[in-house]
Amino acid sequence: MASKQPRPDVIIIGSGAAGLTAALTLATRLKVLVLAKGTLSDGSTAWAQGGIAAVLDAGDTFENHIRDTMVAGAGLNRLETVEYVIERAPHAIERLIALGVPFNQQAGALHLTREGGHSHRRIVHVDDATGRAVQDALVSAAQAHPNITLLPGRSCIDLITGRHEARYSGSGRVWGVYALNEATGKVEAHTARATVLAAGGAGRCYLFSTSPRGATGDGIAMAWRAGARVSNMEMMQFHPTCLYNLEVKNFLVTEAVRGEGGWLINPRTGKRFMEFYDAERMELAPRDVVARAIDSEIKRFGLDYVHLDISHKPAGFVREHFPMIHAKLLGLGIDMTAGPIPVVPAQHYTCGGVLIDLAGRTDLPGLYAAGECTESGLHGANRLASNSLLECFVFGEAAAHDILERWSSFDAPPAIRPWDESRVADSDEEVVIKQNWTEIRRFMWNYVGIVRTTKRLERAAHRIKLLYDEVEDYYGHFRVTTDLIELRNLLQCADLIVRSALRRHESRGLHYTLDYPATSKQARDTVLFP
Ligand code: FAD
Ligand code: SIN
Repeated sequence: MASKQPRPDVIIIGSGAAGLTAALTLATRLKVLVLAKGTLSDGSTAWAQGGIAAVLDAGDTFENHIRDTMVAGAGLNRLETVEYVIERAPHAIERLIALGVPFNQQAGALHLTREGGHSHRRIVHVDDATGRAVQDALVSAAQAHPNITLLPGRSCIDLITGRHEARYSGSGRVWGVYALNEATGKVEAHTARATVLAAGGAGRCYLFSTSPRGATGDGIAMAWRAGARVSNMEMMQFHPTCLYNLEVKNFLVTEAVRGEGGWLINPRTGKRFMEFYDAERMELAPRDVVARAIDSEIKRFGLDYVHLDISHKPAGFVREHFPMIHAKLLGLGIDMTAGPIPVVPAQHYTCGGVLIDLAGRTDLPGLYAAGECTESGLHGANRLASNSLLECFVFGEAAAHDILERWSSFDAPPAIRPWDESRVADSDEEVVIKQNWTEIRRFMWNYVGIVRTTKRLERAAHRIKLLYDEVEDYYGHFRVTTDLIELRNLLQCADLIVRSALRRHESRGLHYTLDYPATSKQARDTVLFP
């Protein structure tokens, strides 16, 4: 079925920070259609806590922020990208203020907090719920814009390319996307002259993750199947401090708690332990270092969790800085002003993704990408805290500018074949999806986690091979559902992560393997060609 909307100029897949920034920039001249799985605010953006990194203090410099980003990224970052993004951060913050984001102020200036890996205070924030304020401001602006149509409830399945043209060309030119209308169960073909992928990360490949339910790597998997290269997928970031709670499994406790003086303590010894892992930076070492330290303490002492403690600070200070977290924890019977918070590391961010250039262009003509689904060169082997939202704003805008500049060269889409459902039936065994989903997330956690070995990676690769046949068979025989789309993409991303990890014969940043503990002299991206 074709879309009932008038044909848009540009389609954007995803309504988080990257997608809506691109939409608002494009809408100055073009008609934009934004498609989103679930509701408009189901992505990671709304969940962001700590804030957005930007050099705004007279005592700080771009050079400092660039150096911190490269140190965290273990030298795998592309300097050109790091400079490009960091120099545009103050503009990104100005734009958000103009949209009405109520960043915290102090003495007439923006209040800057601190997080791990940052040599200076440079994180602008809205209390400890920055993402919610940003998401709400972007959605309000997009809803009010006459050139933007928002279509939530669309699970995109596959990009439309030359292979789907009514007069088959087989080219890699992207013309839009096939999307499942979650309400009607029908698949729609949405076409446009340009498409921007902004579908977020693949965190849900892991059993324990701070990411929302829909972070199943759909954008990365769709681009890969359409023929785009992906890069550095082995660089999966684990956040050191996810709440340990048997009922609430994915609640993040922001790094800003450590930034404002919180300590990590071994509950068995009652002592701080970071001095054994990074005596200089202690709790404010980059995330990969802190997550490995916690993992090591947990394994060495047979613990379920470690403690994060900020109760030595005045209660009023803690409540004022962390109102959302304080209230959430109180509801679970934990008073962070009076005692420690039990925490464990959990998957948090996908550093790798669809390879893009400085204009957000992918390998495929007509396809741009921005945000967590990409590998832009900013994060390298480990993302510096609060650089992610920043990347979304900078590349959302960069992609939009490039499309606007080249607009006259974008052809109108040809006639496209409708989605073919003639050979599929309704699924009679949903249990297969649930079983495979759980299995992937469990073996990825156990075999492809914080500390890796070649043997464990090979075990994971073997499991993936077996599951591929089962999932593809299922996909070929039954009508698509959001769960099935996500399972297929999760498996695709798990495969990309494991293949990339097997190719990296060194330990660098987030990829730590007991078989290759040394870091090679030369930093090289792991680029996979479809
Ligand atoms: P998202 O915001 O994840 O949006 C993805 C969009 O794509 C959604 O609209 C989703 O519905 C849609 N989508 C996905 N698949 C499909 C599909 N198949 N069809 C249609 N639509 C689809 N970063 C920081 O810089 N600072 C922080 O303080 C911070 N805190 C964080 C806290 C938490 C708990 C988490 C999980 C992340 C945090 N991050 C933070 C990371 C940051 O929030 C994300 O990297 C960023 O928001 C990603 O934005 P995005 O626009 O790329 O994707
Ligand atoms: C946090 O608040 O700790 C998350 C920040 C980030 O992921 O950048």
